Amino acid sequence: MKVALAYNLKREDKDKPADYFSEFDSPQTIEAIVRALEGRGHSVEAVDVGSPGSFSYFKKSRVDMVFNISEGRQGRFRESEFPAFLDYLNIPYTGSNTFSLALALNKALTKKILKAENIPTPAFQVFSRGDEGLDRNLRFPLIVKPNCEGSAKGIEPSCVVNTPEALFNKVKDIIARYSQEALVEEFIAGKELTVGILQNGKITILPVLEIDFSNCLHSGEYFYSWRMKEFQGNANLGLVPEFHCPARLDRETEVRVKEVALKTHLAVGCFGVSRTDIRLSRDNVPYVLEINPLPGLDPKESNLPLMAYAAGMQYDELIEAILISAYERRRELN
Ligand SMILES: Nc1ncnc2c1ncn2[C@@H]1O[C@H](COP(=O)(O)OP(=O)(O)OP(=O)(O)O)[C@@H](O)[C@H]1O
Ligand SMILES: [Mg+2]
Repeated sequence: MKVALAYNLKREDKDKPADYFSEFDSPQTIEAIVRALEGRGHSVEAVDVGSPGSFSYFKKSRVDMVFNISEGRQGRFRESEFPAFLDYLNIPYTGSNTFSLALALNKALTKKILKAENIPTPAFQVFSRGDEGLDRNLRFPLIVKPNCEGSAKGIEPSCVVNTPEALFNKVKDIIARYSQEALVEEFIAGKELTVGILQNGKITILPVLEIDFSNCLHSGEYFYSWRMKEFQGNANLGLVPEFHCPARLDRETEVRVKEVALKTHLAVGCFGVSRTDIRLSRDNVPYVLEINPLPGLDPKESNLPLMAYAAGMQYDELIEAILISAYERRRELN
């Protein structure tokens, strides 16, 4: 197949906030995907969709498939920005459609759908201005996060609050810094789990990944915060979490965790690939935090490849599975 890899490049810019480019992809990830696809016999061109000229490239070049990892530039629909352009040109792309990409980026809206589907998700409230009354049913500790971000942007230990005063300070801070509403959720103490799903003809639920932060406590970070994600593996900073895949769960809990991830994938209308983040409470309830239709694909650092390896897949098999699922779907639709 003639494939174009569509990405936004991670770069450094001293004038931007430290987390500005966190969602974008590194040269290593781009290189790894290109190599994986070429190794499988495809011809590949990597295109930075943030660069001038990228749109005319897609208008002129006929590609069979776009391998989409582009996160988009700005706004609450940014992950569907580029796929919408591909839809307009009738060029097929991997993964979820514009609708599911935009929906999954909006955590509160996704949670409303989860609730309607009886999928457990932490109790929550959205603050648009910062002076709304706090819902009396919510129980501290609460966590405050931007409603429409990924890569744990804006999420740090100080987001977990125990008093209304700390809560409202944080809510106002998030609204101002990220120019969007703040999502307040009950903080679920317990295990950090994430579940990958591949939909290549049939649906495959990958082995559940558990991330244990107990080693990192002296760093001040104790969950999957922005610093934990950004500097993961940095021993000097004390940010070396332990990964367990499959997760250390009894059989019954494992089945339940996989079931809620699958229900979430289907409820949000994801396709091809997704990763659902879950906190398993101490009384064993798998609370879904969110679903990622564009999970990170760094072959060494990202969660989804780790799960694929635990399932016995190589990196190039994972990448090709995502490509082929999109190809098969296109065939079904035609
Ligand atoms: N309600 C909660 N209870 C406990 N921990 C939470 C809660 N919400 C968020 N967290 C912690 O913060 C992390 C990041 O939160 P979340 O997954 O909502 O953000 P994100 O920016 O969308 O992440 P991603 O990098 O997966 O895109 C979670 O993996 C978890 O460790
Ligand atoms: Mg997450």
